Amino acid sequence: MFNKEGKDNSTYNVDNFEFIKKTSPIVGGLIEKEYNRQKNNVELIASENYCSEAVLAACGSCLSWKYAEGYPYVREMGNKGRYYGGTEFVDELEEYCVQQWKKVFNTDYHVNVQPHSGSQANFAGYKAILEPGDTILSLSLDNGGHLTHGSPVNFSGKLYDMHFYDVDERGFIDMEDVRKKAHELHPKLIMTGASAYSRIIDFKAFSEIAKEVDAYFMVDMAHIAGLIAAGVHPSPFGYADIITTTTHKTLRGPRGGLIFAKPELAKKVDSAVFPYAQGGPLEHIIAGKAVAAEEAQKPEFKEYQKKVVENCAALADEFLKLGYKIVTGGTDNHVFLLDLKGYAFSGKELQARCDENGITLNKNAVPGDPRSPMQTSGVRIGTAPMTTRGFGPEDFREVARRIDVIIKELIKEKEEEAKEEK
Ligand SMILES: Cc1ncc(COP(=O)(O)O)c(C=O)c1O
Repeated sequence: MFNKEGKDNSTYNVDNFEFIKKTSPIVGGLIEKEYNRQKNNVELIASENYCSEAVLAACGSCLSWKYAEGYPYVREMGNKGRYYGGTEFVDELEEYCVQQWKKVFNTDYHVNVQPHSGSQANFAGYKAILEPGDTILSLSLDNGGHLTHGSPVNFSGKLYDMHFYDVDERGFIDMEDVRKKAHELHPKLIMTGASAYSRIIDFKAFSEIAKEVDAYFMVDMAHIAGLIAAGVHPSPFGYADIITTTTHKTLRGPRGGLIFAKPELAKKVDSAVFPYAQGGPLEHIIAGKAVAAEEAQKPEFKEYQKKVVENCAALADEFLKLGYKIVTGGTDNHVFLLDLKGYAFSGKELQARCDENGITLNKNAVPGDPRSPMQTSGVRIGTAPMTTRGFGPEDFREVARRIDVIIKELIKEKEEEAKEEK
């Protein structure tokens, strides 16, 4: 694990590039370069984090070699539902993983720990309750939703009849618009969750609207799952029919997905994951998910999540003090969008300039963005990874001041370019 000064305090040899180089100098060399980039840069990508060495070790273990298509739990026919022999230990592991995630979210929802990613969790979640052509009401990509929430270039936009609720002029999800469109469209599913939304999502209000129009209600909590587990964001459990998440963002686990479902949807969800969407589960990643779930039950994890939110508030506050605009005017969670509409440079240009200065963030569309999604008029900034590395509010304020210097340089350059063109 890297500390905030960029030193590696690992006890486990997570970055065994010298060993890999003996077989492949190219691959080992590239991993080494990436290791140094990660160690030396300030990481502000809101969807990333650093998992523990124990999680990483579990993911790199012999479980990587084991096939175990099917499920470990006893099924209706009375067998274990696996299609391979030799699964006694991975059966136990997978069951253990399921039980740990129930504890993390204090829930009796059914849990499927097999999705290889957040996108596959959403794919299977939809499949469990929808037919192709069914109507979904969701938050669009340009207002903060994810690709899998109905983008026309994604399976969701191609398979389903997608409609979107709006954000208001400040950038908050417009619950009146959700209700109005739900009553007009009578969707089979109302979906919420986001990749770039900085405010509390009112799951109770969404579930009430879903009940009014007899729709399923699904939540993709990928970004805020760690905050929910720690009680620093309201929980969708008890309100949503299906809840999906990734495990690698604020949850600080390995890359992967999870699906939680009301017990009556358990069988449909399971068969939507396997055999519909996936083959063999990645038991090594499931081991990493189980370790992460245990870590997420520790008091330190709650403290960490509180710090993520406090740090994000400090970072946003510093940008506001420096005179910048933030979508919704601030943040309640781990992320916010710097609104660069009206500036002569794009989000893409700022992202590239930050890269050159050792700060990693990503361009992101902002509501009402006049630029294309490849250019954008915003950048997305998150505090989860650097909080893991020990950054506090003052460190984040300093980051805002560094980005301010970069922006001022860009403004100056653009002004000079404009003068030369005259
Ligand atoms: C809200 C949300 N859902 C799903 C995903 C997809 O996760 P994955 O990249 O694991 O497919 C993301 C990824 O960033 C996300 O932000």
